[in-house]
Formats: sequence, C-alpha cells, structure tokens
Amino acid sequence: MSAVNISLQPRRIDPSVDLEIRAIVEGRAGGETCSTDLASGPWNFDTVPGYGPGASMGDVIPTGSPRQGELPAEYRTASADELDARILAAKAALGDRVVVLGHFYQREEVVRHADYVGDSFQLANAALEHPDAEAIVFCGVHFMAETADLLSRPEQAVILPNLAAGCSMADMADIDQVEDAWEQLEDVYGDLSAPDADGLVPVIPVTYMNSSAAIKGFVGRHGGIVCTSSNARTVLEWAFARGRRVLFFPDQHLGRNTAKAMGVPLEQMPMWNPRKPLGGSTEEQLLDARVILWHGFCSVHRRFSVDQIAAARAEHPGVRVIVHPECPMEVVDAADESGSTDYIRKAIEAATEPTTFAIGTEVNLVQRLAAQHPQHEIFCLDPVVCPCSTMYRIHPGYLAWVLEALVDGEVLNRITVPGDVADPARVALERMLAAKPPAAPAAHWEQAS
Ligand code: 13P
Ligand code: SF4
Repeated sequence: MSAVNISLQPRRIDPSVDLEIRAIVEGRAGGETCSTDLASGPWNFDTVPGYGPGASMGDVIPTGSPRQGELPAEYRTASADELDARILAAKAALGDRVVVLGHFYQREEVVRHADYVGDSFQLANAALEHPDAEAIVFCGVHFMAETADLLSRPEQAVILPNLAAGCSMADMADIDQVEDAWEQLEDVYGDLSAPDADGLVPVIPVTYMNSSAAIKGFVGRHGGIVCTSSNARTVLEWAFARGRRVLFFPDQHLGRNTAKAMGVPLEQMPMWNPRKPLGGSTEEQLLDARVILWHGFCSVHRRFSVDQIAAARAEHPGVRVIVHPECPMEVVDAADESGSTDYIRKAIEAATEPTTFAIGTEVNLVQRLAAQHPQHEIFCLDPVVCPCSTMYRIHPGYLAWVLEALVDGEVLNRITVPGDVADPARVALERMLAAKPPAAPAAHWEQAS
C-alpha cells in the first residue's frame, strides 16, 4: 500500500452522529429526528421493500433493486467494541490484499476503518491506486461500488457490505424510462445522431455519477458523458460544444443550479417527468429547451430550506452558509456558497479565522467536520437529525461480516457490471476524465491516520 494514506489504527472522533442518534433513542438528548430505527439495527430493514427510515423513506424503491439477505446473528448481536476489534483483526490478517473505502457520508464507526475517505469520484479512483489488492470493500452505496468495478481490474472483487445500500436518487432514473424518453425525443428532434449545419447534434445525454451503470452505459452509447458535483459545469460546457441541448439526469437540482450559473434561463430548462407523455412538456418547450431536467432529486438535500438559512443567519450573525448543489435552487441562491462534499471540506479547512459555518449536506459529514475543526462552530442547517438512510445501512456488523469472510477465502456481496454495460459506461466515464482530468488525486483525499 502507498505510504500516503494507510493506517490500520482506528481513528476515534467523537461525538459521531451515530452516538448522537443513540442519545436521542435513549432519551438522553433533545431535538428532533427523522427516525432512530436504523441506529438500533439496520438488518431489521434488509428484507423489507423500501429504503428504510431516514430522509428517503417516502421514496418508491424499484422492484428489481438488490436485496440484502439476513446478516448472521453473531454480527447482529456483537457489541460495538467486539465488532471494532474483529474488523481490525480481519484487516490486519488481510493486509494489502484488501482496500476499504469510506464515503464522506458514512457513519463514524465505519469511517474509522477506511483506508481512504472521500467523495464518490475520489473513491472510485482509489481503486486504480491499488491494482494489486484482491478486494475493494466499498463502504458507500450501490452506484459507487459499480463505478469502482468499472474502473478496477477485472480480477479485483468490489464488495458492497450491505446490498440494500442503494441511492433513492439514482433509482429515480431507470434504464427503461430513459430509453423511452430517448425515443420520444427522437420523435421531436428527428435523428438524434445527426449533426446540424453547426456540427451540433440535437441532444447530448449527461448523467450524474449518482446513477446506475446501466444509465452510464446508455450515455456512453449515445455520445454522452458522466459528471460529478465538482465538475458539472465543465461537463455541461463539453456537452454544449457538441449538442444543441442536454438531457440531464437524474438530479434536477444539480442540473438546474449548474445551468443557471452558466446563464441558461429557467424557461429553457423544462422538467422531464418519466410518467407523463413528452415528460410533461409541450413540443414547443422541448424545441426551445437548452437543458431538459429529469424529475429526480436527493431526499436528503431536498430537506434544506430557505427558512433554515434565515434562522441560521438570525441566530448566528456572520454565519457562512455552504450548501451542496443537490439542494433546491432557492436554497443555493440564499446560501453564501455551494459546492460538492470535497468543496465544503476544503472551504472549512482553508478558513484561517474562527468561523461559524452552517452546512447543507448529509449530517454524518457535518458532524465529522465539526469534530475535526473545534476552532470553528460548524452545524447542519437542518436541525432534524436525518442521515442518508441507505448510506447508514453500512453498519460495522456488515463490514466485519464481509472482511472475516475474505479472511476465510470467501467473497460476499460482489458487485459486477456485465461487459455489455461496462464497455460503454467506461466510455462515458473516460469522456469525463478527458473533459477535466482529476487533479493530483491522493493529495485531495482525507487520510485515515
Ligand atoms: P459526492 O459525489 O460528493 O460523493 O456525493 C455523493 C452523494 O451522494 C451526494 O449526495
Ligand atoms: Fe443518494 Fe442523496 Fe444518499 Fe447521496 S445523500 S446517496 S444522493 S440519497
């Protein structure tokens, strides 16, 4: 393993949001919460359809979504300390054979065991840094593990500790709906692969990283590209250099916020609702469109509101409000800044004077940033503790389970993207990398030390 980022020592940063949620469950803390049920046992939700308690519990889960079988009882009943010790022992036994990746939104009890902590794009690249590791254990959600599989060597096994850790936003753009939308757009614009006199095709599909590999494959087959929240503007510029307009999915908010900042008028950004003919727009609106926004959203980021920003400003004069671009447009407009998870982290790190920050993103990351930067006051804009319920399904019990199986030579919960999907999906990812090569990767990653 490279010397820059690996430590097998647990990193303890308290209080973690997990502890905060437990305090609420036990009646030791005040304040509101979405639901505390996931904290006591995510395995209780593995076999029922739905995303489980949390911000996304009201979203409809597609029928074909992966389900997690029952976690063996020894992992459900083990104490936190026992699981901690078992994870450390398994990692020590596996050594360089395994790399554990942890997304910024993971609970602290999992993050402390990660060799890399970062955003979805950085973590996918971490797989490239370890071509000799036999297994990559991805503590994140399903689309992230798929992306790691696309970018890693075929012999490497990418493991998602809990198969029910999906992403409700990614699930809002289903491949059949997208194929259907494409056919309807062909009826409006004519041959979608035929350039006009200016060399521009009628529409370029752009998908956010938070989408299934099938969607990335669709985009790759149709001259499109993937984006992340940190390079969305560069990617839209790439697309406008090749097409009259963009079909952007699944996150309407990232699409709208990015295009608006580029000067695209809101009237030229119709929404595509896959349950309505022509997505709910008229033919004239679609002909005039510059960006067609898929009707998807993140249930976690949709909770942030202009009222919360007003309350933060009233209570903390001089507060610096930073929100993720998955938040609704009015929230981004009312904030001081908006940016990806990595942008938020760097902005806080760069602040030289003690500052009060109100942050609009997932609460696990906000809590960790607050613990890491005691010189600042850092709080989540949303006063209700409500983690991303699917990220939260990666409990240390599942991590111990997959790692101990690896020690015994068994690969559990492997995520494999079939070749016919993987090839075009890689093309779409490579276009993104070429549009903006990643800056010196390891230097940007939070190190587990
Ligand atoms: P990043 O791309 O910043 O990792 O964000 C992923 C995500 O799920 C945001 O909600
Ligand atoms: Fe998906 Fe939102 Fe959770 Fe990110 S925070 S994984 S976009 S549901």
